[in-house]
Amino acid sequence: MGNFWDELALYLSYLQALGVKAVPRKKAFERFLKLDLSPPPKSLAEIAAEIKDCTSCNLHRTRHHIVLGEGPEEARLMFIGEAPGREEDLEGRPFVGRAGQLLDQMLNSIGIRRAEVYITNVVKCRPPGNRNPEPAEIEACLPYLTKQIKVIRPRIICTLGLIAAQTVLATTKPLNRLRGKIHQKEGIKVVVTYHPAFLLRYSSYKPLAVEDLKLLKKLYKEILNSG
Ligand code: URA
Repeated sequence: MGNFWDELALYLSYLQALGVKAVPRKKAFERFLKLDLSPPPKSLAEIAAEIKDCTSCNLHRTRHHIVLGEGPEEARLMFIGEAPGREEDLEGRPFVGRAGQLLDQMLNSIGIRRAEVYITNVVKCRPPGNRNPEPAEIEACLPYLTKQIKVIRPRIICTLGLIAAQTVLATTKPLNRLRGKIHQKEGIKVVVTYHPAFLLRYSSYKPLAVEDLKLLKKLYKEILNSG
């Protein structure tokens, strides 16, 4: 990180100038140390270079590949899933297993080609046995997603499943209260739907997913038409 220590020294002198004599390390520093003072990345390639040897959480111990994401840097629509599964971990690409096949069908059903959207996950390494990623793993990986969003600047984000919805919208609300409407996050429209893997197991939710996809299609068309 560029001038991290200079910034830290500056921050400490600032506190000193305010008359602060001692700083309880944990509370005061924790938030500051989490601030990313590095300049924002300019391209996905830069993020790929940064994540290449990531050991920010324990998932690096069991991964075969980091699955950063795929799709054009200028995509207007971004899909965010949960974490890579077995096939994704082996191939290094998102949504290539059974859930990915269903995602492809979902896209086809609303006339969107996979090649025109950007697809990624909240967590970039596979949790062993496809368990849910833990909060600490999500937190450790979140800076990469934030950077991807900054570089791509999609007009719409579609979250797939509860973890992606709650992470992107910074909420603990259940999925049935989040879907069916358009959220706003820093100027980006966010549509929430079910995870394809969930739909494979609980097909009775498919009609609701079809409604979500209709909403997404309408929004996407409007955005493409508005240039
Ligand atoms: N499930 C996810 O959430 N992401 C993938 O890439 C594959 C399965």
